[in-house]
Amino acid sequence: MRPSRLIVEHQSQLARVFAEWLTRVLTQAIAARGRAALALPGGSAALALLPELVRASLDWGKIHLFWGDERAVPPDDPESNYGLARRLLIAPLDLPAAQVHRIPADTVQLEQAAERYSETLERELGSPPRLDVALLGLGPDGHVCSLFPGHRLLDHGGWVAALDDSPKPPSQRITLTLSSLHQARVIALAAFGSAKAEVVREVLEDPRCSLPAARVLRQAGESVAFLDPDASSLLTAPHVNR
Ligand code: 6PG
Repeated sequence: MRPSRLIVEHQSQLARVFAEWLTRVLTQAIAARGRAALALPGGSAALALLPELVRASLDWGKIHLFWGDERAVPPDDPESNYGLARRLLIAPLDLPAAQVHRIPADTVQLEQAAERYSETLERELGSPPRLDVALLGLGPDGHVCSLFPGHRLLDHGGWVAALDDSPKPPSQRITLTLSSLHQARVIALAAFGSAKAEVVREVLEDPRCSLPAARVLRQAGESVAFLDPDASSLLTAPHVNR
């Protein structure tokens, strides 16, 4: 499933191009609805793309941050997706806590924490909760957030779910569901490096692909993929536009 737009840039340029794109999209969301909601990933997409956002001319006072998934670790653990964003974005910008909606996955009651986050989404974004942009990293097996191929959570009907058998460690996590991601106004998928080239080809070009990333793109109203040349190297018909 081809995204509405495919952007291929060398790693050195990609973060800047992403920041310019995100600034346009969130500025339009703020103009339309008075505020904007952005969901962040963990992993290499966060590491590569978040630092540049600190320099972007975004109206941060009107932007609320959410997460696509979280590992069941405390916020100061190196594995915490929130912790990563706090270091790269939230602390440098000194964003107020009221705008930062982290997933409370650092609890023994993971199911309850997922339920609490579902309530947070509905309170902040309405029902159904609609993110303006969900930025997703792409796993080499085609997972996004903590939605893994063949996993029972792909059929979960709620907005947020807990799992204790994630194939990618740590095993305990909380994730937005496909139902949540299908409500997002824009899906932004990011993948870097040759290790992602095959799954990028499958997700973007195989019409029968049923991997979680392909299912998200297929249902998305609008979608953009941000790739570096290595991740895009197996695409048969690269079509780059802004
Ligand atoms: C997580 C992420 C996960 C990630 C992909 C890709 O918490 O692990 O949110 O969905 O985005 O696994 O990760 P990499 O880009 O690091 O390969």
